[in-house]
Amino acid sequence: MSDTFVQLSDLTLAYGKSVAVPSLNLSIRKGELIALLGPSGCGKTTTMRAIAGLLVPDRGRISIDGRDVTRVPANKRGIGLVFQSYALFPHLNAFENVAFGLRLQKLPQAQIDSRTRAGLATVGLAAFEGRKPAEMSGGQQQRLALARSLVMQPKVLLLDEPLSNLDARLRLEMRTELQRVQKETGVTMVFVTHDQAEALALADRIVLMKDGRIEQLGTPAELYARPRTAFAADFMGFENILRVEGGDLVSDAGRVRAGFRSDSPLLAWRPGGVQVGTGPHTGRVLASSFAGGHREYVIDSALGQIKADAAIDLPEVPLGNTLQFDLPQHTACELVE
Ligand SMILES: Nc1ncnc2c1ncn2[C@@H]1O[C@H](COP(=O)(O)OP(=O)(O)OP(=O)(O)O)[C@@H](O)[C@H]1O
Ligand SMILES: [Mg+2]
Repeated sequence: MSDTFVQLSDLTLAYGKSVAVPSLNLSIRKGELIALLGPSGCGKTTTMRAIAGLLVPDRGRISIDGRDVTRVPANKRGIGLVFQSYALFPHLNAFENVAFGLRLQKLPQAQIDSRTRAGLATVGLAAFEGRKPAEMSGGQQQRLALARSLVMQPKVLLLDEPLSNLDARLRLEMRTELQRVQKETGVTMVFVTHDQAEALALADRIVLMKDGRIEQLGTPAELYARPRTAFAADFMGFENILRVEGGDLVSDAGRVRAGFRSDSPLLAWRPGGVQVGTGPHTGRVLASSFAGGHREYVIDSALGQIKADAAIDLPEVPLGNTLQFDLPQHTACELVE
């Protein structure tokens, strides 16, 4: 790819004898916002640490902006880091927290002042420059940590679950903020999360990882609509995954006739793709919960547990009662494995 900005080639990362990331290949474009998504322990932080230069690879290469940085120390890579714990200096006010790195670079005072003020303004903290971190909300501290990294004008900004300390509303606010800052500054960002909604909302492309390997790489729309594997489908909310054998639907619990014609060995349905109220299948209601716009059912059926969302205007089926449902082929996602 001609516009590759960060290139990871055959990157192998180990802690002693245990290999966390076996051989990673990834090209990131300039100005792109990449989300690393995956379950706990899949190697997201390990990959970030290697890009940052905090972990020396056992094998492979990292290049940034056309330069091989595999052996370049962390502080010479032009990388900004924002981690889950923001690690702000508690005794310094917001202005001094942001100015800290610029002072280390021994820039002229006027330049420090203007860049610090611009950084604080970018994250909406212009009015807070005199406050200490303890006098700020979680979201404000988070934005301060972001400003502190941004003023260093990094080539690449790495964010490792930076929003995980925030409540739901602040997370949403910060998401928007991050996107805005990224488009405004054009900085290339790699963002780690294990929250699929966050990855879908923020990223230009998502790297879904499993056991240190890339399971699937694509735009949010691609991953959301067309996960390739059962693992990816499950991560993207297709909670009902069934095998297809001779037109029948098969699970570990049992087998039902469905008359499906499918070349795929596996089909997956989101709860919203299961039709509730009518259909050829029946099951007993195990759980039923109100979820605002719809009702979520867990149905115990011949195929095991099926998760289904029902329109809120349908009458509620009480626990233990029988519910009819359908798994229409047209709402299924075809998986390759
Ligand atoms: N310092 C370390 N020493 C030994 N093993 C480690 C170390 N750090 C991480 N690991 C192991 O490497 C693997 C990947 O860990 P990593 O921290 O990259 O996961 P992660 O995807 O960031 O997970 P999480 O979502 O929980 O943060 C895990 O199996 C983990 O136990
Ligand atoms: Mg991690």
